[in-house]
Amino acid sequence: MGGLFGAVSRSGANVVPSVLEGLKRMRFKGYDGTGIAVVEGGVLEVYKDAGWVDYVAEKLGLDRLTSSIALGHTRYATHGRPTAENTHPFADCRQRVAVAGDGAISNYERLKDRVVMGGHRLQSRSDFEVAAHLVEEELEKDRSFTEALKALQGALEGFYAVAVLDRDAECIGAFTQATPLYIGLSSNTLYITNTLPALYGFADSYVAIEPGELALLCREGVRVFKEGREAPLKPGSPVDVDPSLVEKGGFQHHMLREVYEAPYALLRTLSSVQEKYLQLAARLVLGAEDVYIIANGTSLHAGMVASYYLSELVGISPVVTSAAEFPLYYVENVSPGSLVVAISQSGETGDVLSSLYEAKLRGATILGVTNYIGSRLARLSNVYLPIAAGPELAVPATKTFTSTLLLLYLVALRASREAGKTDASTYAQKVSSAREAALRLAEALPRVDEEAKQAVKLVRGCRGGYVVSRGITYPLALEAALKLKEAAYFHAEGVEAGEFKHGPFVLVEEGFFTGFIVPVEKLSAEATYPLIQSAAEAGASVVAVGFEGDGRLAEIKSERLAVISTPPAERHLAPIAYAIPLQLLAYRLGVELGRPIDAPRYLTKAVTR
Ligand code: AGP
Repeated sequence: MGGLFGAVSRSGANVVPSVLEGLKRMRFKGYDGTGIAVVEGGVLEVYKDAGWVDYVAEKLGLDRLTSSIALGHTRYATHGRPTAENTHPFADCRQRVAVAGDGAISNYERLKDRVVMGGHRLQSRSDFEVAAHLVEEELEKDRSFTEALKALQGALEGFYAVAVLDRDAECIGAFTQATPLYIGLSSNTLYITNTLPALYGFADSYVAIEPGELALLCREGVRVFKEGREAPLKPGSPVDVDPSLVEKGGFQHHMLREVYEAPYALLRTLSSVQEKYLQLAARLVLGAEDVYIIANGTSLHAGMVASYYLSELVGISPVVTSAAEFPLYYVENVSPGSLVVAISQSGETGDVLSSLYEAKLRGATILGVTNYIGSRLARLSNVYLPIAAGPELAVPATKTFTSTLLLLYLVALRASREAGKTDASTYAQKVSSAREAALRLAEALPRVDEEAKQAVKLVRGCRGGYVVSRGITYPLALEAALKLKEAAYFHAEGVEAGEFKHGPFVLVEEGFFTGFIVPVEKLSAEATYPLIQSAAEAGASVVAVGFEGDGRLAEIKSERLAVISTPPAERHLAPIAYAIPLQLLAYRLGVELGRPIDAPRYLTKAVTR
């Protein structure tokens, strides 16, 4: 998984400098490893190491390479730790082709068995290495490079984009299954990348490669194949990127880019998580005498949602606590039969790690959930699950939150299946609902963002406020309040809807913001609509977040009410569907108030101490 940037010169000129520069523009795609495949004197060479491009380029002297064809990659680790061996590109056994990819190959285990049985030597634990050996198998049958690529396209499943450099044909072939992939066109050079803004200054125009298409970039030009036949190259569009935003993927802030990436991150999470590890995690949950969920901040809110999942789907009520509290009161009760589920997107949060040391001393089993598999959390865990959301650079966590929710839901669902409470077909149906929910979110995002901008007009003058919800979306109220603080320096509190009239309501008046997340439990929702009405009547600026087509919300008529609607989702997926509008509300308010959104004062991405 990561950033891809390849180039083929049509005049024989050296393309290595442009490929290295392209990689430097993709820090947000991954920085666990950097590699480049080149052809020097007719020999395919792959230079790679763990680490960010600047470090690896200097260490390996990449600036000194000369090649008229090159395929570079900057890695975000999901399969295999951040090591040189696991860094892309991967060569086949005969050193003829090199492969680099983004996303995840979901049938990797089966393909791996196939190539190993075929006598190939795998050098890494990356899912993409199998692709190099699959191409090699086809080439050994005297198939052309194009035919070999078509066979590869038929073999790979999942959510990915892949590029293959062939030393002999001196071409790069590429195709995608849902993740973005672009051909960059200029008079002298052809480019391939999964990050459009990285083409700025190199390509004059670009063409997006659609799923089902296969692109071949050679010295002679570009060829595109669709459904087995050659198809005309679509007209190029100009590479129109604000130069100052190139390193943020063309977005004004990393936070906004990351919110827009969230639906794709969900698809990546789904493709990356391996059933055997989910099963292992599920069995740990079912076999534990007691379960503790520990985390901080946004990850703690994800852990709170997970307690609803485990309670309803598995019949287990875990203790959910801040990792800062855990050593004070809970760790005493931890024993060798305990399971500690530690959630941390960075995997480096100090309180999580120190709590884990103590839990381990008492013999507990640790199930880690992290976005960085090279982190200390992953190393301290008996079993860890990768969130696989891709690097997150903005301090306010967004796509890691939604992907964490999904991962924890999958663990609970799998445990429910293992316990015989969910049958195999319901399990499969729920997993495919998650995929559909992600796709609906991707489609709805621009509209949701527009509604968030409109809602901000009501909120911007307020002195602070509440976000209110109940049931499985209550932790979302806490999370929304946290996002409003971080991204907009706007004071907000998360309030459980049943508690609203036990005190908090007293502050609701003109100049006070009151946000509502319509609960997904029927009775709770029924009780919430009148609260929305009352808050608007009390003069507050009210924002209600509900599902599209919520007729009860539409009935509430008030100039003081703005509605943001999100695509309907199954009850357990509702926290994911609701998170995105709430993140956008906080982001848009932060923009309106001129806040330093990606780097709020006093905060750091990982609170190590
Ligand atoms: C999230 O927006 C915050 N920046 C913060 O609360 C964060 O979630 C918390 O520090 C925990 O981080 P972790 O997931 O990396 O452990």
